[in-house]
Amino acid sequence: MQKCEVREITAGETIPIRCAILRPGFPPEAAIFEGDDRPDTRHFGCFLDGQLQGVASIYRAPLPGGVPVQEGFQLRGMAVQPEMRGRGCGVALVRACELQARSQGADLLWCNARSKAVEFYRRHGFSTVGEEFDIPTVGPHWRMVLPLKK
Ligand SMILES: CC(C)(COP(=O)(O)OP(=O)(O)OC[C@H]1O[C@@H](n2cnc3c(N)ncnc32)[C@H](O)[C@@H]1OP(=O)(O)O)[C@@H](O)C(=O)NCCC(=O)NCCS
Repeated sequence: MQKCEVREITAGETIPIRCAILRPGFPPEAAIFEGDDRPDTRHFGCFLDGQLQGVASIYRAPLPGGVPVQEGFQLRGMAVQPEMRGRGCGVALVRACELQARSQGADLLWCNARSKAVEFYRRHGFSTVGEEFDIPTVGPHWRMVLPLKK
């Protein structure tokens, strides 16, 4: 099976996949996230056979309600094309984000995981905190954290 290759991409390159998978039925602007253009934000793409098939981004942001001294990064906009799932793109993107957050001094990586994706994140070291909550127009989520050991 073709190995996936992860590399940094621009915010603009994330939009078509983000929009199709995470904001279906909405215009592309709905897939632009606050902070996309901040200098310490990073966007990653996963390529199979040279084609972009998955995206994920990290943003410097403290864990809501977390310990203030901890440097946090939020993982957002994680999406892999449906026909390309199960080939390792998702895990490769998580690992690239984890490595980058660590290199930017993060103590932890956190995300608001769609409830359907909780098991995916759990398999890759994240754990849930708090209770399930709803994000209007998107659906049920759990906050999940991955501590990054120095
Ligand atoms: C979640 C998602 C990014 C995973 O991408 P993927 O490329 O299929 O993931 P991988 O191929 O790297 O999967 C790695 C492992 O996690 C497992 N896995 C993937 N999605 C899973 C899920 N939703 N629940 C449980 N396990 C899952 C895979 O079976 C695989 O297990 P294995 O290592 O035993 O083979 C993808 O399913 C997706 O885009 N979903 C829709 C959007 C979404 O929910 N994004 C997350 C928003 S918070």
